[in-house]
Amino acid sequence: MVNPEESMEITEMVCLESDLLDGQMKEVEVDKHKILLVKNEGQFSAVGSRCSHYGAPLVKGTLLGDRVRCPFHGACFNVKTGDIEDYPGLDSLPSYKVKTEDGKVYVTLNTKETKRMREMCHRVPEVCHTVILIGGGPASLVCAETLRQNDYSGRIIMVTKEGLPPFDKPKLSKAMNVDSERLLLRPKEFFQQHDIEMWMNKEVISVDTEAKTVTVDDNTVQHYDQLLIATGCRARPMACPGADLENVRLLESFQDAQDIHNLCAGKKAVVVGTSFIGMEVAAYLSDKAASVSIIGRSEYPFQLSLGADIGKMTMQMLEEKEVKFYMNDNVAEIRGENGKVQEVLLQNGGRLEADVVVFGIGVLPNVDFLKGSKIATDQRNNIIVDKCMRTSVPEVYSAGDVVSFPLAMRGDERVNIGHWQLAHAHGRIAGLSMVKKPTEINSVPFFWTVLLGKSIRYTGYGQGYTDIVFKGKVEERTFLAFYLKDDVVVAAASLNFDPAVACLAEMIANGKVITRVQIKSDDLGWLQLP
Ligand SMILES: Cc1cc2nc3c(=O)[nH]c(=O)nc-3n(C[C@H](O)[C@H](O)[C@H](O)COP(=O)(O)OP(=O)(O)OC[C@H]3O[C@@H](n4cnc5c(N)ncnc54)[C@H](O)[C@@H]3O)c2cc1C
Ligand code: FES
Repeated sequence: MVNPEESMEITEMVCLESDLLDGQMKEVEVDKHKILLVKNEGQFSAVGSRCSHYGAPLVKGTLLGDRVRCPFHGACFNVKTGDIEDYPGLDSLPSYKVKTEDGKVYVTLNTKETKRMREMCHRVPEVCHTVILIGGGPASLVCAETLRQNDYSGRIIMVTKEGLPPFDKPKLSKAMNVDSERLLLRPKEFFQQHDIEMWMNKEVISVDTEAKTVTVDDNTVQHYDQLLIATGCRARPMACPGADLENVRLLESFQDAQDIHNLCAGKKAVVVGTSFIGMEVAAYLSDKAASVSIIGRSEYPFQLSLGADIGKMTMQMLEEKEVKFYMNDNVAEIRGENGKVQEVLLQNGGRLEADVVVFGIGVLPNVDFLKGSKIATDQRNNIIVDKCMRTSVPEVYSAGDVVSFPLAMRGDERVNIGHWQLAHAHGRIAGLSMVKKPTEINSVPFFWTVLLGKSIRYTGYGQGYTDIVFKGKVEERTFLAFYLKDDVVVAAASLNFDPAVACLAEMIANGKVITRVQIKSDDLGWLQLP
């Protein structure tokens, strides 16, 4: 049945009521648009079928109650309203009318609505209240959007050192040569449309929490009523001789990624660091550089975070692409001629020819501008926040990679976690605190890394794990790894085992404790994998 054209509404029968059991979902089509149909407690609901992050088919995710979790990177959506409830991604899903008649299920689609941004208010010039957001990453962006979604009509200023509005940083090490416009999380016009002032290429150099001002490197002093510090982290520089030579690079910005791509094409690249950034960069360069060598301090890559077995497997993946590993080693010196890199000397006595050296050896929190302020930081220089992202100073909030916060799933243990998804979640909580709707952070960490087109997914917080139990076979590159501490699963990682990690994240989010006994069993029925 096709409704009058002007309403753009189309209703079609999509299935029989009996086709779905309670707790099941199905992808159906109305007018060639794919829709996710869900049955829960006898009620049907229908929402967009593609995740608003990178478009994963949600039907392959995990459904628990009224929430579906994306199999790829863990974003969660309410299946009744379509609202995004956990990240990554910014937008919600469209939701559609469903009716049942004579045992048949009908869905009505509005063809204009295939994406849904939560409604946002505008600035009212008479409202004399200013929020400053320092940093232009996802934590700041989500905070700004949360403010506008919650009727905040004051002034919002986002100050960022970058020359771009918020962009998809995880892509920098996975698709280094991507066009900047394609990286943006929101188009440039978005900020004008929603009255969010973008102060780009500007660095905040100090904060005075008594006077409630921030000072910017162009000497502007700006008053704030509420402040968000979401300055993230910067790449840790190497302190060896020669680290200042031309063509020794760190990966932080869009321009860094472009430079590394251009400098390494057809040249000898040496990557230092075998954790996420180093391994992704080495994988990316493997078919572009003349040679790629990678240096790591442990026996295998990712050894501390993912364990030796997975590390060994990733090493083999890259070795198959002719990447050469120098493990249990480190850089002693970088030598060059005319200011340019020529070779890398290793602590174990080795010598690698090099045209470019890329360091991916960890990060440092961006808090130098807070020196002398009363905003409390911990021993590692992370800003201390409570569960509502409040710092030690009233009306100053902090979010994202720069904070240490109480992690609900680990009994409020104070942690610092640099995940894309968590930065979004923090930004939302900070925004809600600012509009006096305090909500505690209870997001379960979710992370992914991509090597040669293969995604390893990870959920939880594995710090201090004592052993790993595997399902599947790591050497066959199809596995699910459970990380245990005190006989309880604290984290899980997978490759080619979707949506296991999303299922586990959802179970942990619902307060379920997963024990050694459960995972030792050969029957993974409790995971409810489709
Ligand atoms: C190359 C790369 C790949 C990654 N891949 C993944 C991945 O695959 N999965 C994943 O989960 N996470 C990944 N991450 C981590 C993820 O990008 C971060 O967790 C996330 O960006 C943190 O968001 P944030 O808002 O806290 O800070 P950021 O995104 O770091 O943004 C902070 C911003 O503040 C600006 N800034 C700093 N100091 C000042 C100042 N004084 N004044 C003004 N501006 C300032 C910085 O320039 C920066 O733009 C990756 C990170 C990098 C660098
Ligand atoms: S595609 Fe769904 S979370 Fe990334």
